[in-house]
Amino acid sequence: MTIAQHLLETYHQWAGFETIFLKAIATGQGHSYFGGPPDEPARAQVPVHPPTLAAPMSSIISVANLSKTYGSGFKALKNVNLDIRRGEIFALLGPNGAGKTTLISIICGIANPSEGKVLVGGEDIQISYRKARSLIGLVPQELHTDAFESVWATVSFSRGLFGKPKNPALVEKILKDLSLWDKKDNKIITLSGGMKRRVMIAKALSHEPQILFLDEPTAGVDVELRKGMWEVVRALQQSGVTIILTTHYIEEAEEMADRIGVINKGEIVLVEDKTTLMQKLGRKRLTLHLQGKLGALPESLSKYKLELCDSGATLVYDYDTKGERTGITSLLSDLRTAGIRFNDLDTTQSSLEDIFVDLVRTS
Ligand SMILES: Nc1ncnc2c1ncn2[C@@H]1O[C@H](COP(=O)(O)OP(=O)(O)OP(=O)(O)O)[C@@H](O)[C@H]1O
Ligand SMILES: [Mg+2]
Repeated sequence: MTIAQHLLETYHQWAGFETIFLKAIATGQGHSYFGGPPDEPARAQVPVHPPTLAAPMSSIISVANLSKTYGSGFKALKNVNLDIRRGEIFALLGPNGAGKTTLISIICGIANPSEGKVLVGGEDIQISYRKARSLIGLVPQELHTDAFESVWATVSFSRGLFGKPKNPALVEKILKDLSLWDKKDNKIITLSGGMKRRVMIAKALSHEPQILFLDEPTAGVDVELRKGMWEVVRALQQSGVTIILTTHYIEEAEEMADRIGVINKGEIVLVEDKTTLMQKLGRKRLTLHLQGKLGALPESLSKYKLELCDSGATLVYDYDTKGERTGITSLLSDLRTAGIRFNDLDTTQSSLEDIFVDLVRTS
């Protein structure tokens, strides 16, 4: 194989479906997150709030009665209904094989739905594929880029695939934001796994999408860089981009998301504001470490939901975080009256992880 043939082959592998579908996408779709529409001069340094922010609660993606049965006969999605609000960060959580990537692939037009309808920015993804797809930046779960291209060329080329004019200032800003600037001339093959993932993010941002899908964006990215990427994602949100991410790091969703969706076995189990979810399903637990062991609870404490643990050495009290009265003050007073003393106490609150595990177990 000649070098030219080899380069051609790797180019085709890298570009994959994007080359097939995106080459002909016309300019003029959507608003940029760093600058105005493409017919205006680029203003790479100044984040602009697109007019879409005026209606932050409206849906930018609407998924209705969506089902997917793969050729094998496997039903990966079952009647999914989901609306993504303009400008939000939405975290889609679910165990391996739940259907997250399948759902994203359908919204992005990579896989066909078996039933149902998806609107992106008001455009039906099956009728107006190109218009809908041009609004979306996708960072896929599986990494595939041309190993022998430089970081700079890869990201710039990606922008060209969407028919956008060259904008070196924007590419520079994206690479700097993602801590890839010093690697801009490196071939992709020479990068670490976490760097390659950041190149995928840079590619997805290169055409200034209004919507960004991040399918496991921080898998294999170290803690410090992960935090840096969260900052980039937040800055994108502030500039008006809607972000949908999947993650297995629940603390990432807890940290980042405005709303949480949980999917299990192809069905949406729950969609909720994160804070509401944590208040609604979160529990607090007060643990009292007693001075002496207690054989049984006195009758005077029977009105409380108390549990004696560690052979009577600790007393555990679960209470509702959203209730106006936790009952703690009267419990402590009744304990004193009953002559039960303690050395120490601590409280714990259920995390999003506890809530998620409970939801998936029971669904
Ligand atoms: N091309 C395919 N053909 C047949 N079945 C598939 C195909 N792609 C995915 N599936 C099946 O559909 C189900 C959902 O897969 P999907 O990749 O959407 O899960 P996921 O939620 O993204 O999981 P993970 O957290 O592991 O990424 C799985 O059971 C998977 O085996
Ligand atoms: Mg997946």
